[in-house]
Amino acid sequence: MQWFKIPEKIYFEAGSIGYLEKMPDIERAFIVTDEGMVKLGYVDRIIYHLRKRQKHVHCEIFSEVESDPSFDTIKKGVEQMNIFNPDVIIAIGGGSPMDAAKAVGLITGIREMEEIKDLHDYSAIGSRSAVAAKAKRSRLLITIPTTAGTGAETTQSSVLTSAAHGMKYSFMSPASMADLCIVDPEFTIGMPAAPTIHTGLDALAHCIEGVVGITTNEYSQMIDLECIRKIWTWLPVAVSDPKNVRAREEMAWAAHNAMTAGGSANGHAIAHAIGSKYHIIHAMACMYTIPTVIRHFGEASHEAIVRLAQVINAPIYGDAEKDADSVAEKVKAFYKSFGYTTLQETLKEKGYEISCDEFAESLIDFTLDDFKSRVWNPPIHESREAVKEVCRKIYNEK
Ligand SMILES: [Fe+2]
Repeated sequence: MQWFKIPEKIYFEAGSIGYLEKMPDIERAFIVTDEGMVKLGYVDRIIYHLRKRQKHVHCEIFSEVESDPSFDTIKKGVEQMNIFNPDVIIAIGGGSPMDAAKAVGLITGIREMEEIKDLHDYSAIGSRSAVAAKAKRSRLLITIPTTAGTGAETTQSSVLTSAAHGMKYSFMSPASMADLCIVDPEFTIGMPAAPTIHTGLDALAHCIEGVVGITTNEYSQMIDLECIRKIWTWLPVAVSDPKNVRAREEMAWAAHNAMTAGGSANGHAIAHAIGSKYHIIHAMACMYTIPTVIRHFGEASHEAIVRLAQVINAPIYGDAEKDADSVAEKVKAFYKSFGYTTLQETLKEKGYEISCDEFAESLIDFTLDDFKSRVWNPPIHESREAVKEVCRKIYNEK
């Protein structure tokens, strides 16, 4: 399957936030963000540019978005937006504000949503349902990332948290795609080491899963491999030299394009489950999952794994299993160079004394639930036993 979908317009360059001045006919802008973005003056910059050309643009700020936004937050956003009645929704921030904005915008386009008490229940029938296919967003959506990692500005899904179910899940619809992305690398200049590492490694996970997932295609693989090459080269530079403009531009390009390239990342369902259950930061959960994902697709995606090996300079042996192992180990060395350790050590640090079997068993329902919510690329496995086996392997990666 050749699958490739990106927003209609993408402005990418340092200073591209100024394109907001060129937006025609904006009268009422609903800005979805978090408190940090308000305090750091990012929201003021948006308003400044909106009003530079059109003095009377009314702006309403919804800044209650927390990390891993909950359905309650989405409901509050919908209420506030319906009262304000904007003609455009502008999301600014990391992945959470963008995911929240996409969900808020979408809900107003689905009549049936009024009946739904928790988005998770809707998500269980997910993108395959006729309801999602019919959904339309009634307002223009502009996404403006301030990190280089999630790629949420360009995806059709939101990762949300259901308090009722105690889990993160993906909420997806083609109608969630932004009309315009403004990717301005200047926003990331000077970002401290920790968020630079976490967001950069999240982007790396997106690319690797895209390459090894067996529905990769000519377009997506070419882009994903280029993103990996950039991350491999420039993430260490961005971490050691936070004001390096070139490094920030390359990372912004890679993070954005990682998510424009074809289907969805498949190890992410397990990473979401690990994150929900053990409160491990998203990128870390992704990285601890990735070596097993690579090995899992070793046979089916041998050709792609050899290409990946060439990009990251991993030895190739001409044998599917050995080549997958070689790439998996090289990726481990890369994330460990940023201070990540192992899943078992991280679990211990967080106070979870848990056996391999307990760990694997605890993730099965969450993972299978997440598989239902969107079209994964492809799911790692859909049976309980197979998911358990994959989770056991993840636990035992050293
Ligand atoms: Fe991710």
